[in-house]
Amino acid sequence: MATTMKPLLSDLIPTVTCVPPNYVRPESDRPNLNEVTFDHSIPLVDLRGLGPNHSSVIKEIGEACRNYGFFQVKNHGISKEVIDKMMNVAKEFFHLPESERLKCYSDDPMKTTRLSTSFNVKTENVSNWRDYLRFHCFPLEDYVHEWPTNPPSFRDDVAEYCKNTRGLALRLLEAISESLGLEKEYLNCALGKHAQHMAINYYPPCPEPELTYGLPGHADPNVITILLQDDVPGLQVLKDGKWIAVKPIPNTFIVNIGDQIQVLSNDEYKSVLHRAVVNCKEERISIPTFYCPSPDAMMGPAPPLTDGDHPPLYTNYSYAEYYQKFWKRGLNAETCVDMFKIN
Ligand code: OGA
Ligand code: NI
Repeated sequence: MATTMKPLLSDLIPTVTCVPPNYVRPESDRPNLNEVTFDHSIPLVDLRGLGPNHSSVIKEIGEACRNYGFFQVKNHGISKEVIDKMMNVAKEFFHLPESERLKCYSDDPMKTTRLSTSFNVKTENVSNWRDYLRFHCFPLEDYVHEWPTNPPSFRDDVAEYCKNTRGLALRLLEAISESLGLEKEYLNCALGKHAQHMAINYYPPCPEPELTYGLPGHADPNVITILLQDDVPGLQVLKDGKWIAVKPIPNTFIVNIGDQIQVLSNDEYKSVLHRAVVNCKEERISIPTFYCPSPDAMMGPAPPLTDGDHPPLYTNYSYAEYYQKFWKRGLNAETCVDMFKIN
């Protein structure tokens, strides 16, 4: 039984030639990879135009949010050096010896720095083909002392990366506010003291990718997500009932609207289902930055977007309440926002 006691998928892999039964999805819930669309992708927005006189970029972002809930960004202002260091240290971390990685292991979703596997091993029935390191990163000084110290450059490289992605998140929040017809600072102010989490997702090669998911279809619970991925495809986005594969483009990020923008916008923008599939040849790394309200921030539809003809569709709640529900109920196609809908 020794091999099944290994907490991390990456350490189980060397011993398996087929997908273990606890990773196999029921037939009604499999990726059906031959039905995925590869011939068009999500919009690519050039952020170079996001300066004074930027109304055409705001319009592009607004349309992408409305029609896809997803877009890619280029000329985003984050240097290739910062991105490369982040990706390299992420890869190095997951290639450390098992004993070294396990120092951070925890299955408690409320821990602010932890290495784990699948999604929530305490509550789920079927496991996902993923290990992940998840940690909080804003305010940086509250959390950096919890982060891994191996690889030795981990804290420096990741801190630099998160400061940069926070800057990008703030610019995008201004653009999204304006695209909704709100004051530029609206979303910034709605998030209380703000919070930022990150994950490093590690998807090992999988002998039978048709039977399981890296991550099944889900919506993100936070405000916006900025995803960095390596050059191995795996992310898919649901559009008009079909899964679209997002082909990696070097030096771009993928941005998506999370549940909190769906609520704040009173359903103008939707938090769209997406998933990660795995492949039999190559490991894949993806690094989402989850930009969040602070736990005490009160969320609800923005009053300027509601009136007699557009009544608020959601109750008000604290982000802490939302976040706990998200982790308890697990990844699910019936998204978490529905629990906060008014009737
Ligand atoms: C996530 C996510 C997608 C990917 O971590 O929430 O959607 O491509 N990841 O890894
Ligand atoms: Ni996601």
